[in-house]
Amino acid sequence: MKRVLGIETSCDETAVAVVEADGAAPPRVLGEAVASQIEKHKPFGGVVPEVAVREHLHHLPQLVPQVLLQAGTRLSQLDAISVTEGPGLAPCLLIGNSYARALAVSTDKVIGGVNHLEGHLFSPFLSCQRKVEFPFVGLIVSGGHTLLVTVYDWDRYVRLGATADDAAGEAFDKIARLLGFPYPGGPSIEHIARSGNPDAYDFPRAFPDKSNFNFSFSGLKTSVRYFYEKNPQAHKDGQWVADICASFQRAVVDVIAQKSVLAVKHAGGATLAASGGVVCNGALRQALQLACTKNGIELLLADPELCTDNAVMIAATAAMKFEAGREPKVSTDINPGLSLFTAEPTGELARGLAFAQKIKHRSDAKPS
Ligand code: KG4
Ligand code: ZN
Repeated sequence: MKRVLGIETSCDETAVAVVEADGAAPPRVLGEAVASQIEKHKPFGGVVPEVAVREHLHHLPQLVPQVLLQAGTRLSQLDAISVTEGPGLAPCLLIGNSYARALAVSTDKVIGGVNHLEGHLFSPFLSCQRKVEFPFVGLIVSGGHTLLVTVYDWDRYVRLGATADDAAGEAFDKIARLLGFPYPGGPSIEHIARSGNPDAYDFPRAFPDKSNFNFSFSGLKTSVRYFYEKNPQAHKDGQWVADICASFQRAVVDVIAQKSVLAVKHAGGATLAASGGVVCNGALRQALQLACTKNGIELLLADPELCTDNAVMIAATAAMKFEAGREPKVSTDINPGLSLFTAEPTGELARGLAFAQKIKHRSDAKPS
């Protein structure tokens, strides 16, 4: 039995959780809290690192005792302290890491670093009350990442596909800004799209071929931008805006659902585990469910509160790995660009990735 405190400060949520894992069942959540900073960043249209740092500094020392109390746990009863080591915003990661290290030193506890993406990867198992079983294909769709990964075992993660340019969440946020909706854009686009026609405009879907599982959303984003700028009616007429939102959302959702199914088939897997902020999106959840059912794939979806950033996923990942015999360790530094992958793809997949990189360099050279 391992009882672990988790701390997550990689971006704009300060989150703390205590979980307990016994290796037989999914970890039990004893206490948790998330202090969201969305309202503080809204006026700026995106996350401002300096604002985020101040918020983390303010909330973290309050949340830790509050969550320990909620969990009925004294520091001395913890088996380990876990903290997000990367990827994320450097100054934000530093707050969580400095706090976690100080706590570990002063209480003589072991400390383990967790990859933020690894947390997302395993969160569907927590929501579905399932013990992690390997192998499976993980889909992470967030503000910073769009990833497909084959998970063979703890720490054996092989890339199937990744975005060559914008992450899906980033595309939602940028289109929302174009249309005048507040940050974060995903929830507003989803809301407006409900009264729109998803077949109104045929926005482009990138990489529809079967040989690679990479994503690209910059062409779609540019196409929506040109369409909006060329049609002044869309600036005044709510129905035009709703149709644009619905058609854009449909284009994103189609590509993700289609690629995910192809990736699971390619990997010879039977299970897809989906997580990350964009997986809160009802249209995406529905499309994934439909595509998986049609293709005989089991779908595990993280609950919306575990899709967005939280510390349950960090504490639970650390506790499950500890219970499975992986001793917690933390590197001497944070790593804002920390990769999830332990092995690079070969053959057809590698060629697909090289192609994606070429496109990215070309699109980076143009204003978007
Ligand atoms: O996983 P997350 O909380 O943070 C990162 O690690 O990036 O994801 C945040 C992203 C934002 O881009 C936000 O717009 C998007 O998730 N998002 C959504 C929805 N809810 C959040 N995108 C589409 N539909 C939603 N309902
Ligand atoms: Zn995240």
